[in-house]
Amino acid sequence: VQATTAEFAATLPAGVYGETVLSVKHYTDRLFRFTMTRPDGFRFRSGEFAMIGLMVDGKPIYRAYSIASPSWAEELEFFSIKVPGGPLTQHLQKIEPGDTVLMRKKPTGTLVLDALTPAKRLYMFSTGTGIAPFASLIREPETYEKFDEVILTHTCRDIAELQYGFDLVSEIRNDELLSEVVGDKLTHYATVTRESFERQGRITDLIASGKLFSDLGVPPLNPETDRGMICGSTEMLKDTKALLEAAGLDEGANNKPSEFVIERAFVG
Ligand code: A2P
Repeated sequence: VQATTAEFAATLPAGVYGETVLSVKHYTDRLFRFTMTRPDGFRFRSGEFAMIGLMVDGKPIYRAYSIASPSWAEELEFFSIKVPGGPLTQHLQKIEPGDTVLMRKKPTGTLVLDALTPAKRLYMFSTGTGIAPFASLIREPETYEKFDEVILTHTCRDIAELQYGFDLVSEIRNDELLSEVVGDKLTHYATVTRESFERQGRITDLIASGKLFSDLGVPPLNPETDRGMICGSTEMLKDTKALLEAAGLDEGANNKPSEFVIERAFVG
């Protein structure tokens, strides 16, 4: 394996790392999580994404993936969809420990703490694999330095698709250092839309009806106290953004920190 990895490394294009897969966990026929080695000297901010790829028939294929692990972690973690016939994911879903995954060297993204001005409460609104950047941010101590309350919402079609989020929260609770940093600041609000469950409905409907806020026991969205990050499909971003804007929140960016930021959950 050593020889193969070294040979492979010699064939890598400039600006690309070749990293070793460490673990793979399949949740459903649509979702899986994997970890790989972190290159020496690779730095990123919690919430950013990188281009991840594989060699397919001698050619590299890349897709943008949020890094789901926090900036301090030794390994890199990703949460992926499996798209039948998807140019990358039809192959990526078959990786096993010891395999090599490509990663371009420069991470980027808007779902970073630097893009938000200070406030009391941070909402992270996610659907499907849109939870990935927040998997990073809920394990980032700086999130809890900057906000007193952190509310992660995750909406999926069915309960099995919520499992990654439940695993994350229990991993935080079971980690001595992290659980101390997080304390009782983190609330995980999980809902499904196509199965019966204790919490049901699209997050947009739950915001519009006010049920989200009454369930949480907090006042409605307010630019004085609340910040938001949104990650999901194009339609979900559009609809959630409209609700935040209606509540008076202003969209920010890396070079113009403000009250909420959005990024599409990546597919294919
Ligand atoms: P629904 O089941 O009503 O379509 P997907 O797996 O298709 O990416 O969807 C993930 C979750 O996002 C589903 O629960 C889906 O609800 C929800 N969703 C889809 N479109 C929107 C939207 N425009 N606004 C809010 N939630 C949405």
